[in-house]
Amino acid sequence: MSATPISTSAPAARKKVTTLTYRQKKERGEIITMLTAYDYPTALAMDKAGVDSILVGDSLGMVVLGYENTLPVTMDEMLHHCRAVSRGAKSALLIGDMPFMSYQVSVEEATRNAGRFLQHGGMDAVKLEGGRERADAIRSIVNAGIPIMGHLGLTPQSVNQLGGFRAQGKTAVAAKRLVEDALILEGAGCFSIVLESVPARLAELISKKISIPTIGIGAGAGCDGQVLVTHDLLDLFDRFTPKFVKKYANFHGEMQKAFGDFIEDVESKRFPAQEHIVEMDNAEWDKLFKEVG
Ligand code: KIV
Repeated sequence: MSATPISTSAPAARKKVTTLTYRQKKERGEIITMLTAYDYPTALAMDKAGVDSILVGDSLGMVVLGYENTLPVTMDEMLHHCRAVSRGAKSALLIGDMPFMSYQVSVEEATRNAGRFLQHGGMDAVKLEGGRERADAIRSIVNAGIPIMGHLGLTPQSVNQLGGFRAQGKTAVAAKRLVEDALILEGAGCFSIVLESVPARLAELISKKISIPTIGIGAGAGCDGQVLVTHDLLDLFDRFTPKFVKKYANFHGEMQKAFGDFIEDVESKRFPAQEHIVEMDNAEWDKLFKEVG
C-alpha cells in the first residue's frame, strides 16, 4: 500500500470568507467548516487546507495553557493568540472567543472588549456564550459594527452552574428554552450560533427554525456546519476526549516518539551528524590555532 503524498505547497489564493459567505452557504444548503487554532503554524495549515472559519477558542485555556477549565483565560491571553492566528490565516473567517468576565459585567465593557478583538487581535468577528441574558450585550456589539456568533447548549464558562461538562437540552422544558434562546440571539443580530452538546434532533429543529447558520459540536449532523477543537481532532490533548470527537491523527504519540528519537540520537552521538554542522576554512582555522591553540 503506498502512502498518500502530502502537498504543503501553497494552493491558489482563496477568496476571503465573510459572514455573508456564512449566510449564502446556509441558503444554498452548503455545509460550513470551523476549527479552533491558537498559533501561527496551525492557522496557516488549516487555512491552506481550506477551512471556512477559524475560532480562537477560549478552549485555549485547557488544551494549550493547561488550566482545569476555561475560566482563568484573560483578554490579554486571548488577544496574544488571536494575533498569532491572524498572521497565519488570510482567507478563513477569524472569530475570537470572548473570555469569562469580559462581557458579563456590563454592556459597555462587553462592547469595548469585543472591539479589542478586531482592533488589537486581527479578528473579523467575536463569539460569546449564553442566551437571552446576553441579548443586550449582543445588540450593542452588533450596533458597533462587530459581527457576533452566539453559543448555546453546553457553555463551558458556566461549568460551575451546569454542574460539570454535561449535555444540555435533554428535557422538553430545557429544549424549549434553547429554541427560544436561539430565536432571541438571531433577533439580537448574531450571524451564527454554536450549538454544543445538545441532542441531535433538537439541534436540527433549531437549525430549521432560524435563518442564521448553526455550527454544531456534539450536536449531530443536522446543523449547518461543524466545529471541533483541533487538539481533540489531532489527539494532542491528553486529559480526556469528549464522546463526540473524531480523531484524525495521533499527534501526542507522534510528538512523544519524535522527542524520544531526538534524545536517543543525542545520547548515542548520532546527532548532530556531518550534514548538520558548519565548516570553517582551513586557512582561517590555522590562523586561529596559531593564536589560541
Ligand atoms: O472555546 C472553544 O473552543 C469553543 C468551541 C468548543 C466551540 O467554544
